[in-house]
Amino acid sequence: MPLEEHYSLKRHNTFGVEAFAHYFAPIRQLDELKELLIADIWKTMPILVLGEGSNILFTRDVDGLVLKNEIKGIAVIRETPDEVWLKVGGGENWHRFVMFCVGNHYAGVENLALIPGSVGASPVQNIGAYGVEVKDVIDEVVAWHLETQELMHFSNSDCAFGYRDSIFKHTYQGKLMIIWVVYRLSKHPIFHTGYAALREELDRSGIKALSLKAISDAVIRIRTRKLPDPAKIGNAGSFFKNPQMSFAQYETLKAQFPDLPAFTVDKHTVKIPAAWLIEQCGWKGYREGDAGVHAHQALVLVNYGKATGKQILELAERIRQSVYERFGIMLEREVNVW
Ligand code: EPU
Repeated sequence: MPLEEHYSLKRHNTFGVEAFAHYFAPIRQLDELKELLIADIWKTMPILVLGEGSNILFTRDVDGLVLKNEIKGIAVIRETPDEVWLKVGGGENWHRFVMFCVGNHYAGVENLALIPGSVGASPVQNIGAYGVEVKDVIDEVVAWHLETQELMHFSNSDCAFGYRDSIFKHTYQGKLMIIWVVYRLSKHPIFHTGYAALREELDRSGIKALSLKAISDAVIRIRTRKLPDPAKIGNAGSFFKNPQMSFAQYETLKAQFPDLPAFTVDKHTVKIPAAWLIEQCGWKGYREGDAGVHAHQALVLVNYGKATGKQILELAERIRQSVYERFGIMLEREVNVW
């Protein structure tokens, strides 16, 4: 297995910012990881596990070891007339996996088409879009503990999933490499078309009979229209989470800002679109040097070419401050900052 030194991470983060890894090792199977980690040298060094780098902003070099998850494979491990269980390598591309499911008529991930990133990253921030979260289809997550050198199995409830959140962002942050994920998918689709933008897109396309393919196609069209393609303009999707608050807090704020939109989460809680808050503060389409705010989606920060991670983070902090001053809401980052 090749171990690189002073290795550029520019191609390995979708923001496309420059940062160097002191050591860099691609991992294609669990045995390679076990073999590498035997050496004592890693015990005193920071270790960063990287998937496709689509949810990270590098503001400095990694003065340690970067492990790039390249563990591949999609296999059916159990099947009934109604359901199928798929074991998928952490280094598989997420969208390729979604297309595999749609092609085989396995339902559950079609709304999550075109999300950049890897399968191994999907449980970490519980990826979600257009009314579906990956927690709804995760059966098990299997990960290697980098310190204790053990294989750990997490059931769905062990993962403590929340909105863009899981145990992998807290207790196990920086401690694991996700080796494979088992997804439990249905052979009898229940179509999730509740998200307004998705419903409108399906109506517009004049689809007569819904199908997994019709849904993933519609999602792909919406995403392509609104979100910048990281291959062309550096970005990591939504930079902040949508803030949640109680109905009571929302009513108070709405008295002051009558147009304030909100989406119901449950009986007591609403979610406010951070994109709206940011747009109201005048940031949409803003650009300073090569760092900016996407012109079609104010929640997405972009790198037009040569911006540094520090410049993007500085812009994010100014946005956060201005939203706080105007609305009294402190936005929380969705993207990980190194
Ligand atoms: N809006 C604005 N200005 C904008 C864009 C949106 O005011 O520039 C408002 C509108 O009121 C709109 C609402 O925000 O109705 C919601 O916008 P959108 O449907 O684009 O979704 P979002 O809340 O901005 C979330 C996820 C996305 C996911 C979409 C679709 C988070 C942090 N982001 O964005 O996920 O694709 O919903 O489900 O929850 C990601 O996590 O990286 C990501 C892209």
